[in-house]
Amino acid sequence: MRILFVTSEAFPLIKTGGLADVSGSLPAALQDINADVRILIPGYPAVLNKLANPRFLTTISNLPNVGAVNLIIGEMPETKVPVMAIESVGLYQRDGGPYVDATGKDWEDNPTRFGILSLVAAILSDEKSPLADWVPDITHCNDWQTGLTPAFMHFMSARRTQMKQAKSVLSIHNLAFQGCYGAEWVGRLGLPADSYQINGVEYYGQLSFLKAGIFYADGLSTVSPNYAKEIQTEAYGFGMQGLLTARGKEIHGILNGLDTQEWNPATDPYLAKHYDVNNLDGKQAVKQALQNKLGLKVQAETPLLGVVSRLTYQKGLDMLLSCAEALIKEHNCQLALLGSGDTNFEQGYRELAKRFPNQVSVTIGYNEELSHQIMAGCDIFIMPSRFEPCGLNQMYGLRYGTPPIVTNTGGLADSVQDCNEINLKNKTATGFVMPKADPKALVSAIARALSFYQDESKWKSIKENGMRQNLDWTKSAKAYLTMYQALLKK
Ligand code: ADP
Ligand code: GLC
Repeated sequence: MRILFVTSEAFPLIKTGGLADVSGSLPAALQDINADVRILIPGYPAVLNKLANPRFLTTISNLPNVGAVNLIIGEMPETKVPVMAIESVGLYQRDGGPYVDATGKDWEDNPTRFGILSLVAAILSDEKSPLADWVPDITHCNDWQTGLTPAFMHFMSARRTQMKQAKSVLSIHNLAFQGCYGAEWVGRLGLPADSYQINGVEYYGQLSFLKAGIFYADGLSTVSPNYAKEIQTEAYGFGMQGLLTARGKEIHGILNGLDTQEWNPATDPYLAKHYDVNNLDGKQAVKQALQNKLGLKVQAETPLLGVVSRLTYQKGLDMLLSCAEALIKEHNCQLALLGSGDTNFEQGYRELAKRFPNQVSVTIGYNEELSHQIMAGCDIFIMPSRFEPCGLNQMYGLRYGTPPIVTNTGGLADSVQDCNEINLKNKTATGFVMPKADPKALVSAIARALSFYQDESKWKSIKENGMRQNLDWTKSAKAYLTMYQALLKK
């Protein structure tokens, strides 16, 4: 089976969040079960620099607003999954992030940048593609940035009677980002005028890339079973619950896996010492090295809480900020935070660190190395998200023997088993699940976790339960393959 995996970020080429982790790992896991996968991604400078064996593949011409772009083919540096990067000086070769400029403002031409990504994917999905020897069976799109692909594919096939074209799949990684732009973009991107309607790409008076994808994709999935149900409700549907409920039975909830090579405490090159489930001794040395590096008081017994996150409302870190001072005073614990996002959150955490220099370390920015060290060196990982489609950090916490505190939502609920009596007895308890996202629930979950932390043997078994979980991609990759096969039979 040929699969075109279309994404706006993929680790290790370019990453802003979990989508990159998934786009780095899932295609490789599909390749391991004999699928013929290629990734399609914008040729940002980092992508063109890091691609292994880059070479010119073809030119795609007559694209709206940009004329022609080149396709460069190469491979992922480690997994060797083939990658096609869209080379366009005007669209992608600039300093700054994939979505925002250096000041954090969305690039004004994002509708063109991701409209072209979507259109190129659709062109490559068709028998009339310039790559006639590699036409996919499945075109797997991810999030709003690729949401117009199924729409373009739909209109290309509607213009012909005889055609061979891939089936489209859209995976929703986060419904909060919907890619909404003015109606004028319908014409500018070359979509037919009559697609701008409720049964089409229109969404509350705008063109929505995500809605277009949800409406036109042949298959839909999201990144955890629980989130697949949640998005059909008003509380989590971000306005799309009606459409999602209409297609409810078709939405596959497939839990993300982890790159267990990249995230492995027994081999992680960023760690001062290695450890595994059979010998956890090294974790203490990693904690000490982390305390040292961050200027925290080096104390083995002081509980160290960790956060690695985008600092946004979704992640609930305003709740932690509001109770942090009281927690630190009451429990004499430490906090190591790495993240970036809303300026007022960043500012709030910076001030907290100033007030408690020996107990709180705050690093604003993006830092791959430190993220691994926090995952491994902390005792407890905090992730009180208000909603969480899947979440990878809580799973990294499990793998690194750093039990997570999470909200009972989305993929967090699917991946963390609370330390209640039954789970403790069955040796399935792996973390602490807050019934809902509110500061009181967070305070009491942290207090509960810290009381377990004091009991050495109980704590050890909670860590071990998490570390023994099988979190790799094999099972999920098979679930995607089954979903593709079912679509092809339709
Ligand atoms: P989301 O994609 O919603 O941000 P996930 O938990 O799915 O949340 O994935 C976040 C990914 O981004 C993880 O791999 C995490 O380690 C990484 N990450 C988030 N913030 C940072 C940061 N400041 N520095 C390094 N890695 C980060
Ligand atoms: C999104 C979600 C996150 C998920 C990730 C990868 O960024 O916010 O929960 O883990 O996508 O699917």
